[in-house]
Amino acid sequence: MSERKMTGATLPGNSTVELKEFDVPTPGHGEVLIRTKSSTICGSDIRCIYNEHLGKGPEGYIPGMVAGHEPCGQIEEVGPGCRRFKTGDRVVLYHISGCGVCNDCRRGYMISCTSEKYRRAYGWQRNGGMAPYMIAEEKDCVMLPDELSYTDGAQVACGFGTVYEGLEKIGICGNDAVLITGLGPVGLATAMLCKAMGAQKIIGTDVIEERLKIAKDLNLCDEVLMAGPNNVEEVKALTGGMGVERAIDCSANAKAREVAIQATRKWGKIVFLGEGGDVAFKPSEDMIHDQKTLYGSWVTSIWKMEELVERIVRWGIRPEDLVTHRFELKDVSEAYSLMASGKCGKVAVVFDEEVK
Ligand SMILES: NC(=O)c1ccc[n+]([C@@H]2O[C@H](COP(=O)([O-])OP(=O)(O)OC[C@H]3O[C@@H](n4cnc5c(N)ncnc54)[C@H](O)[C@@H]3O)[C@@H](O)[C@H]2O)c1
Ligand SMILES: [Zn+2]
Ligand SMILES: [Zn+2]
Repeated sequence: MSERKMTGATLPGNSTVELKEFDVPTPGHGEVLIRTKSSTICGSDIRCIYNEHLGKGPEGYIPGMVAGHEPCGQIEEVGPGCRRFKTGDRVVLYHISGCGVCNDCRRGYMISCTSEKYRRAYGWQRNGGMAPYMIAEEKDCVMLPDELSYTDGAQVACGFGTVYEGLEKIGICGNDAVLITGLGPVGLATAMLCKAMGAQKIIGTDVIEERLKIAKDLNLCDEVLMAGPNNVEEVKALTGGMGVERAIDCSANAKAREVAIQATRKWGKIVFLGEGGDVAFKPSEDMIHDQKTLYGSWVTSIWKMEELVERIVRWGIRPEDLVTHRFELKDVSEAYSLMASGKCGKVAVVFDEEVK
């Protein structure tokens, strides 16, 4: 088994991709061997690994690891001691393998597992999805419903899961006008889920023309605004002078975060998903006197991922609709450089039947 070889993509940190040869691994106790079918690229991969290695903790990339923390595939082999999953099952991965026994893991939030030794994120501290095969722990697998494609599933592994968690924190319903700052893949996923949850009006902002156009063309936003100094007034004008009930920052940009806070009306709720960077706002004027609530939200729990894949089917939405570009592994360099340029929706590296 271990004589079989495969090619995997690694990220040296200078805006290039290096293809390296690996053994096709054999699953150990409680592990499964997954044949990768789709592996999408996240903004965090670009920010923390591709451009330069700057992550720490769960975002610290170990040089030489196979990249890709949004994998989805089919189980080809199960190791000894597996309890639920079997050969042929189609699975999404929760992208951080935790120790399983700390308080965070027991809540299902392996993203914040406190064990330095056992917390290992796929594509960061253990091999991820940018190779035809990968090893996963059985406990990190979520069953992919038959109605969804592997490329739908890959997006749930990080982006859609993250967005669902943030939206559940602030609550979205048919009463709400929603502002989304940043229409990268995470912002587009936010728009898709807000719409499915019944949001009444969805307004999006970005600095990249292509992304505004994708949000409009896919009918995910009712209104799109080029980011600029008048965004707060523009959003108010679109909401009867009141501002939105809910705002989600998916940009990590300081100005955009300020807009998200200031364009939210009294009693409104805001969630920050975009990571890194900075923000400045006036606590009394911008938050306290208007009775607003600001949440931070990091990834999700594995049980919410299970709930999300079920709801995606019920809502009849297809996350893969956000994928504007598919590449085969041999062209993975192009995939990362396109995602780094921002002139795209979601970018996927695909295998077998997902090649289209
Ligand atoms: N909280 C979490 O758990 C979590 C999980 C996944 C990703 N993220 C983060 O979410 C963010 C979005 O991820 P992505 O994959 O869509 O990345 P991305 O970088 O493709 O998207 C960010 C978007 O914000 C836009 N932007 C920049 N300045 C802006 C401004 N002033 N106003 C409006 N938009 C502006 C960019 O043009 C870009 O389209 C990233 O910061 C990523 O690291 C967070
Ligand atoms: Zn991610
Ligand atoms: Zn743990």
